[in-house]
Amino acid sequence: MTRKNQKLRHASTSAGEVDKVKASGKRISIPSLKLVVLKPVGYPLRSISDDRPTAITTDNLRLFEAYAKEQWSGFYVKEGDFLFDQFMYPDFAFEVVKVSPRSGGRISSKTKIQLEVSNVSPIVREIPKVKFSDVIGHEKAKSKCKIIQKYLEHPEKFGEWAPKNILFYGPPGTGKTMMAKALASETNVPIFLTRATDLIGLHVGDGARRIHQLFGEARESAPCIIFIDELDAIGLDRRYQSIRGDVSEVVNALLSEMDGLHPNLGIVTIGATNAPELLDPAIRNRFEEEIEFPLPTKEERFQILTLYAKRLPIPVKANLWKLAEETEGFSGRDLKEKVLKNALHMAILKNKKVIDEKILKEALDLRKSN
Ligand SMILES: Nc1ncnc2c1ncn2[C@@H]1O[C@H](COP(=O)(O)OP(=O)(O)OP(=O)(O)O)[C@@H](O)[C@H]1O
Ligand SMILES: [Mg+2]
Repeated sequence: MTRKNQKLRHASTSAGEVDKVKASGKRISIPSLKLVVLKPVGYPLRSISDDRPTAITTDNLRLFEAYAKEQWSGFYVKEGDFLFDQFMYPDFAFEVVKVSPRSGGRISSKTKIQLEVSNVSPIVREIPKVKFSDVIGHEKAKSKCKIIQKYLEHPEKFGEWAPKNILFYGPPGTGKTMMAKALASETNVPIFLTRATDLIGLHVGDGARRIHQLFGEARESAPCIIFIDELDAIGLDRRYQSIRGDVSEVVNALLSEMDGLHPNLGIVTIGATNAPELLDPAIRNRFEEEIEFPLPTKEERFQILTLYAKRLPIPVKANLWKLAEETEGFSGRDLKEKVLKNALHMAILKNKKVIDEKILKEALDLRKSN
């Protein structure tokens, strides 16, 4: 069924358990559905550089049901039809995989709507908009990324000398994910963002399947970047693997993909971790380079504060150098999300026209007491 058809039918139905609809002069009755099961399938059309999500899930199934009814009540559907989202992700399609009664019917306030989430991929494919110049510091990582950029632009030039697997390690909030996104954005290639914990999955065998799926999707989209966050959760040293028996199966799947069991031309895998020492030595060994993301220096903290202060909707009138001096040990994320954001919220609450040193100090004290 097309979107247009759905809308026409929607417009021609009226409320009630059984609708009477005029179709080519005849009156037919359309039963109200008891059950609809929907499976998210994606967009009907996308440009290569489109950065909209390919997979959709929900935080709460009941919430999804209420959201679905708000937009699709009155729609006539049967198995195999598609419903298109109209609000949050316009035109994202859901396939109707099951209805009761089987003959189809109208979605009403009494219809139970379920979302099939089990097959939802934990992999997000996007082309972000961050630039290298947005990332303060990390010069070594930037120059490595520039080599990768050259490779992704002309994979054929590198032959067997292609950069393949890189490890970013360092404390939380230091810009590892941001740098990988900047690389994708500057090179204009998709990045597959995923977390090792999501890849492992709930059921034995899920993890290996998902890893092969991830690399399979990447091969279809090459040139591209695969970013695996929290890598220590998969690549956990075998000594700790008794916690989760099938992790070794996942490790093997990852090793075979990283070794390039299939030709991975134009694919670079970036792993990220806060704890490289926990990685399985076999996995760690596959990374040709480990790049450290240290906490920012005083000068870098000043630059990070200056960069984000300029983006705040309320002007900052304060000595940011002094603030940089007082924030040793803070990551970029701490400075942005905990100091500046808190200061902005306090200023809004107090109806202030500027963010002054007093407010920044209060925000800083709040961060330090947490
Ligand atoms: N060096 C930096 N320059 C500019 N902004 C930064 C920097 N480091 C962190 N940030 C800010 O903090 C946010 C969080 O950083 P990011 O998610 O890249 O950290 P991470 O190292 O991946 O952390 P985690 O280990 O928790 O995944 C960024 O989106 C950015 O806004
Ligand atoms: Mg990260």
